[in-house]
Amino acid sequence: MSQLNLVLLGPPGAGKGTQADRLRKDFELPYYSTGIILREAMANGTELGKKAKEYVEAGDLVPDDLICDVIAERFDSGEADNGFLLDGFPRTVGQVEMLDGLLDSRGRELTAVLLIEAPDDEVVRRLSGRRTCAKGQHVYHIEFDPPKHEGVCDQDGSRLIQRDDDKPETVRNRLAVYHEQTAPLEKLYEKRSVLRRFDGTRTPDEVNDRIRATLATKRFEDDEQ
Ligand code: AP5
Repeated sequence: MSQLNLVLLGPPGAGKGTQADRLRKDFELPYYSTGIILREAMANGTELGKKAKEYVEAGDLVPDDLICDVIAERFDSGEADNGFLLDGFPRTVGQVEMLDGLLDSRGRELTAVLLIEAPDDEVVRRLSGRRTCAKGQHVYHIEFDPPKHEGVCDQDGSRLIQRDDDKPETVRNRLAVYHEQTAPLEKLYEKRSVLRRFDGTRTPDEVNDRIRATLATKRFEDDEQ
């Protein structure tokens, strides 16, 4: 069976983390969210966390070299040898080039870039009601995707918190940064014929169904070749 080397792309709040949570279980893929990695580093006060803090809190991107090192380490460890799910990386043309280099040197290529689309006003509504579990992996919304018990993660029982960068003024900057620095990647990957678009305004389960159907077709086609 062909390998799944996947990237989740899309504006803040489009539902990348929500879909990642489902996809990594569906396909048992190693999952790398650069946002989660940075927030953990900040919470633990590591060198990476100290360097990233001011950028993340302002809703700006951390410098490419900082985040590229993090991804290179994961690849070098060998844990992504049989596939991966990247969420929030790459986010700039420089990061695309770095990922190209990592994959080329291993004779591998991306299976698909899954673009989850959502309009700005929907993103703002979603992020104001988002809650994430204190362990950082599971995502809820107080209205659209509530936990069974208020304030508690269904999956690991940890406390649900609101992210610092979900303040309205920071969200506005994150959206502007997306449109300026990350949206150009949509065209870039479209030209390479690996981009697959999904309507992120559908329910989380509907988006997941469509992604799974798309990947099943892609795998079938790849295995036929
Ligand atoms: P990161 O953590 O990657 O944040 P982001 O890309 O802004 O994305 P979000 O996590 O906010 O949203 P999401 O699309 O995952 O949506 P979610 O599923 O949670 O990055 C944070 C920061 O780290 C960046 O600003 C930057 O500073 C730094 N950084 C990270 N990577 C970097 C990189 N590569 N280079 C440089 N800097 C980097 O859903 C949102 C809400 O909507 C939830 O409440 C959810 O329950 C709800 N929801 C989801 N789907 C649906 C649906 N279909 N219908 C209704 N509600 C839904």
